[in-house]
Amino acid sequence: MAIFSKIGVVGAGISGIAVAKQLRHHNPIIFEATDCLGGVWKHCSYKSTKLQTPRCDYEFADFPWAERDNTSFPSYEEILDYLYSYATHFGVFELIRFNSKVVEIKFVGNQDPEGNSDFGNLLNGRPMWEVAVQTDQSDHIQWYAFEFLVICTGKYGDIPNIPQFPPNKGPEVFKGQVLHSLDYCKLDEESSLELLQDKKVVVVGYKKSGIDLAVECAKANQGPKGQPCTMLVRTLHWTVPHYSVWGLPFYIFYSTRASQFLHERPNQGMLRNVFCKLISPVRKAMSKTIESYLLWKLPLEKYGLKPEHPFEEDYGSCQMAILPEEFFAEANKGMIQFKRPSKWWFWEGGVQFDDNTKLDADVVIYATGFDGKRKIKTILPEPFCSLIETEGMMPLYRGTIHPLIPNMAFLGFIESVANLHTAEIRSIWLSRLLDNRFKLPSIPKMLEQTQKEMEIMKKTTRFYKRSCISTFSINHTDEICEEMGWKSWRKTNWLSEAFSPYSSQDYQEEN
Ligand SMILES: Cc1cc2nc3c(=O)[nH]c(=O)nc-3n(C[C@H](O)[C@H](O)[C@H](O)COP(=O)(O)OP(=O)(O)OC[C@H]3O[C@@H](n4cnc5c(N)ncnc54)[C@H](O)[C@@H]3O)c2cc1C
Ligand SMILES: NC(=O)c1ccc[n+]([C@@H]2O[C@H](COP(=O)([O-])OP(=O)(O)OC[C@H]3O[C@@H](n4cnc5c(N)ncnc54)[C@H](OP(=O)(O)O)[C@@H]3O)[C@@H](O)[C@H]2O)c1
Repeated sequence: MAIFSKIGVVGAGISGIAVAKQLRHHNPIIFEATDCLGGVWKHCSYKSTKLQTPRCDYEFADFPWAERDNTSFPSYEEILDYLYSYATHFGVFELIRFNSKVVEIKFVGNQDPEGNSDFGNLLNGRPMWEVAVQTDQSDHIQWYAFEFLVICTGKYGDIPNIPQFPPNKGPEVFKGQVLHSLDYCKLDEESSLELLQDKKVVVVGYKKSGIDLAVECAKANQGPKGQPCTMLVRTLHWTVPHYSVWGLPFYIFYSTRASQFLHERPNQGMLRNVFCKLISPVRKAMSKTIESYLLWKLPLEKYGLKPEHPFEEDYGSCQMAILPEEFFAEANKGMIQFKRPSKWWFWEGGVQFDDNTKLDADVVIYATGFDGKRKIKTILPEPFCSLIETEGMMPLYRGTIHPLIPNMAFLGFIESVANLHTAEIRSIWLSRLLDNRFKLPSIPKMLEQTQKEMEIMKKTTRFYKRSCISTFSINHTDEICEEMGWKSWRKTNWLSEAFSPYSSQDYQEEN
């Protein structure tokens, strides 16, 4: 017999706790598969993992960091402390059921044959979804029924993206050790040192997890028997050493209303279409300014690491990684090396490349990212499961609701530069929607809006599959504010409206 309740939330990472706080007047039940909150900050962190921005850019609107003027980038431990304080302060902690993994979801509402569903009657007292929850990794399953379900299972973590190989070319032929960055995160300090020290390590992947790992590896190999770490780089991306470009603050380029005015956005109309075409040389010049700085500051050409695509495309797909200070210092010492094969596979002594060269290795670590959508696909039934992905993107209205999936919301699947704010403002929107303070538009209108957003993402960057709104985030939030009945221009004067960045502090709750 299913236990009936109003709202269920799956996952207690940032998105889960943000939405639970906004919905706590409905007494939601939050299911968290592990024994702690914080998601990736608990399970995907190395000892060197830090926030990629100062703390005030990753802050709940009504819960400032204790030392918010401290400009250092907080460690993952500080972030976890902050999240625990937030969850405790707002009474979210006691709503979380830890060690409770959602293993199956069933739709039990009405759906007409046209696919039009119960959207609009969001909290109507009738169960819409049933959820099977496995507790404490036992075989015991308890079913729950909910009027509304919020999926906050995260884009990263939990399910590693593992490279595939033809028979006899995979890790089974390799005599050394192979693991994913997710396994590395589980090691304590002593075990991770033991894994890396005086070992020939190959790191697969040239994004944030790979870059940080290469630095940890170089640091563990400083002794007389130290070995270099080799990074396998498939696609080059721009990396940034800090948030200043030719003496200008980085936010000037992309995070103000004035700078985002130069970029395309959904629903922009004919006139803006023409304007955006005419202004494209200015956008290109801004991207080039950043590229020229990065090429001057970092030895990208020396190591063959200069990307061919514009910086703007990495920014527009939320792929900008902040480089640890020591990265190129270690490369200059020869402790981090780079290989750029178009194909690679294993042999018994290491890895082999398509130019028939071989590299000896003791350990190969996949820093190859995650398969976040699979977390949803394994629990969501058809026909909804097939709707989750369109051309690699999740088509979500306001980054939250799939127009064809009734009484369900998804948080944490659309990204911007500050993902905590992105999740929080959508949680506020969702809470007001569930409280009937505004209504959703018709399903065709929502589909049209999501389609327009996907088109803009596709135009902005070849890496659009990451569902990122960083070049039109302020406009996206404006529309959310307007729909909730909030004012969208939230600064005190025109100058700061145009030229200062927007953060969660600008979105203090309105009545
Ligand atoms: C190492 C790392 C560092 C990052 N650094 C930054 C940064 O500096 N700045 C930034 O803006 N973003 C950063 N990000 C992006 C980050 O993903 C978001 O900022 C944010 O933390 C995501 O939170 P979430 O709650 O959406 O997802 P998650 O943190 O992934 O949380 C999902 C939760 O759901 C639980 N769960 C999953 N499946 C189930 C299930 N079936 N049943 C029950 N529970 C389930 C998981 O256990 C987990 O606790 C980083 C990501 C990673 C991996
Ligand atoms: N705050 C922090 O310090 C921090 C730390 C770690 C991660 N993060 C965040 O966490 C998220 C995930 O980052 P991530 O670095 O783990 O994953 P990711 O961004 O998905 O990067 C995966 C990397 O692996 C490469 N790759 C995948 N399969 C490969 C294969 N078969 N052969 C060769 N290379 C392969 C990818 O190359 P292609 O580009 O060619 O696909 C890419 O370079 C990001 O949002 C990141 O910003 C943040």
